[in-house]
Amino acid sequence: MRKKVSKAIFPVAGLGTRFLPATKSVPKEIMTLVDRPLVQYAIDEARAAGIKEFIFVTSRGKSALEDYFDNAPQLEQQLRKAGKTELLDILKSTDMDSGEVAYLRQAKPMGLGHAVWCARRLIGNEPFAVVLPDDIIAAEKPCLAQMVEAFEETQGNIVAAMEVPEDKAQAYGVLDVKEDMGRIVSTKGLVEKPAPGEAPSNLAVIGRYILTPKVLQQLNKKRAGTGGEIQLTDAIDDARDDGEEVYGFRFEGQRYDCGSKAGYLQATVAFALARDDLRADLWAFLNEVVHAEKAAQ
Ligand code: G1P
Repeated sequence: MRKKVSKAIFPVAGLGTRFLPATKSVPKEIMTLVDRPLVQYAIDEARAAGIKEFIFVTSRGKSALEDYFDNAPQLEQQLRKAGKTELLDILKSTDMDSGEVAYLRQAKPMGLGHAVWCARRLIGNEPFAVVLPDDIIAAEKPCLAQMVEAFEETQGNIVAAMEVPEDKAQAYGVLDVKEDMGRIVSTKGLVEKPAPGEAPSNLAVIGRYILTPKVLQQLNKKRAGTGGEIQLTDAIDDARDDGEEVYGFRFEGQRYDCGSKAGYLQATVAFALARDDLRADLWAFLNEVVHAEKAAQ
């Protein structure tokens, strides 16, 4: 029987040190692109892919995330009284139903694979998605929905994949391609953060995954990999060694690395330019900046 993907894990335990001092008190997943937190984009994308259960793997200092997804009755009441129905609708669109979202803590920062493993009891024996909220993907059809469709065909593990320049491959999990079928590639290996010059291809793993329970079994082994951490990429590769298929999926869409300052700023500009209420002003401003910069050269 074909299995449906209804659960997603959101690993959000990282310290976000690249955004200090902001992340001293604000979890990086709450940082906003225009007016919506990064994590809201991740939730919306998962919901659009048919996800019904949202599992957050958090850590100390992340309670603002739980507050964010809670209902805000006082604020709602005030907006209702003031007749601000548009704002009320925006607020309501972020509500999560009781029981739809679960939080669990990763007690020690032992890597992405370990964070995913922390959710094993809530996943059980079904395929599941993993969404890294740092990777924001702007697409007509949301990336995870594209992948769920592909999974319905293949029923094998699928990782989002994107071509990266050779000198950037060391920052990613990289696919060793068996057969390139265009949108989908089959793999004969995955390497987490290969040493410079040693990447098996230029196809990098981006933070969207659809995985089978075999990957959780591999994570049970707690094999330490790159940086001494338990890597998700390694567990996926081990599941492949153990006879499962692992496919790379070239998604349609523009990916922004919101784990880096440059990527975060680019996403902010792109998302603001996509907004009817902001485009004209921002465009005029950007033009001014570019002209002034050119004149000064
Ligand atoms: C993680 C994964 C890596 C993947 C990347 C995508 O790395 O370990 O395989 O390519 O996300 O963003 P991180 O960026 O957390 O170091």
